[in-house]
Amino acid sequence: MRDSEMCYNDYYVGRHKSELDTPALLIDLDVFEKNIQKMSDYFFTVNAELRPHLKTHKSPIIAQQQIAAGAIGITCAKLGEAETVVDTGIRDVLIANQIVGKQKIERLANIAVNSDIMVAVDNVQNVQDISDAATAEGVKIRILVEVNIGMDRCGVEPGKAASDLAQQVIQCPNLIFEGLMGYEGHTVAKPDRTEREKTTRAAMQRLVETKDYLNRNGIEVSIMSGGGTGTFDITGSIPEMTEIQAGSYVFMDSTYHNVEGVGEKFGCALSVMATVVSRPTKNRIVVDTGLKVLAKEFGIPQPINVTGLEMTGLSEEHGKMHVTDDNVTLQPGDRVEILPTHCCTTVNLHDRYYCTRNDIVESVWEISARGKSQ
Ligand SMILES: Cc1ncc(COP(=O)(O)O)c(C=O)c1O
Repeated sequence: MRDSEMCYNDYYVGRHKSELDTPALLIDLDVFEKNIQKMSDYFFTVNAELRPHLKTHKSPIIAQQQIAAGAIGITCAKLGEAETVVDTGIRDVLIANQIVGKQKIERLANIAVNSDIMVAVDNVQNVQDISDAATAEGVKIRILVEVNIGMDRCGVEPGKAASDLAQQVIQCPNLIFEGLMGYEGHTVAKPDRTEREKTTRAAMQRLVETKDYLNRNGIEVSIMSGGGTGTFDITGSIPEMTEIQAGSYVFMDSTYHNVEGVGEKFGCALSVMATVVSRPTKNRIVVDTGLKVLAKEFGIPQPINVTGLEMTGLSEEHGKMHVTDDNVTLQPGDRVEILPTHCCTTVNLHDRYYCTRNDIVESVWEISARGKSQ
């Protein structure tokens, strides 16, 4: 059967996950649903609310589930992601990123026709360009001024620079100044909880002091946005914060699993099913999951359902494994399940999720925003 002819739902639903053709991206629904519920429960206990990041799962189906569980809206990294979710009827979307260039800004203004889109800015000319496009389209665009709180990526410096940019936004009739965003990306994945808490509080203090600075200059700051999976309950507990942008918690991966306080709370729901394609020697096994289905920038992913087997390298279409235990009987055609080291970049390599419960495929979801990097 050709890819285009196959109805994945009809074909696979009800089958055991070991019957899936591979490589296949799997969600364990029990673990996934618990992760959504646990995160949602936390946000009933603090002032801040959850605006989960779509960049992890790239799926409006999952975004809808997060909103049904209490999330106030969705965070996106890219315009293409935002277009995908707005097309499904989700209105409250933050693009936690700079949208630069004529084509993109026109698309942004277009999204605003059917949504309450909000975008981060850190540049005077960019604010002017977004303002011009919003005026031409006859829409209002909500703005967060991004502040560099120590990650040294995007963002104006705390204090006066942020206040000056906010003043400019306020002067633009078709822009609505909503508040500040500061992402503590340099602290979210620090494995030690004490160290993570210390560095995160120091970073977020810069955002809080910037809010105070704006307030002293007569500028009201309604939204304070930041946070990730590693800091949801640190940044999320700061009274001034109103929104947390965590993404990876829905799936987790082996990297976040080793982050103290996060690995214990959220379970690993995402895996990639591979098939053994060759066992050329007693100690070498080759599987069909290479770099085109598994990301490795956080380390080489490892098998979870077989002991005595270590993945040692990935090339485009092959994963090379070393057999360390004589009892490993795997032969070509057998299946191996692999835990990603980075869920977000792994998801972006796949077209669909095979969602399982008790190892039986329950549904198949298209990853409709995968590859939407423009
Ligand atoms: C702007 C922004 N917000 C939030 C996050 C948090 O994501 P996660 O929960 O996956 O760590 C990221 C991660 O890259 C990000 O870039």
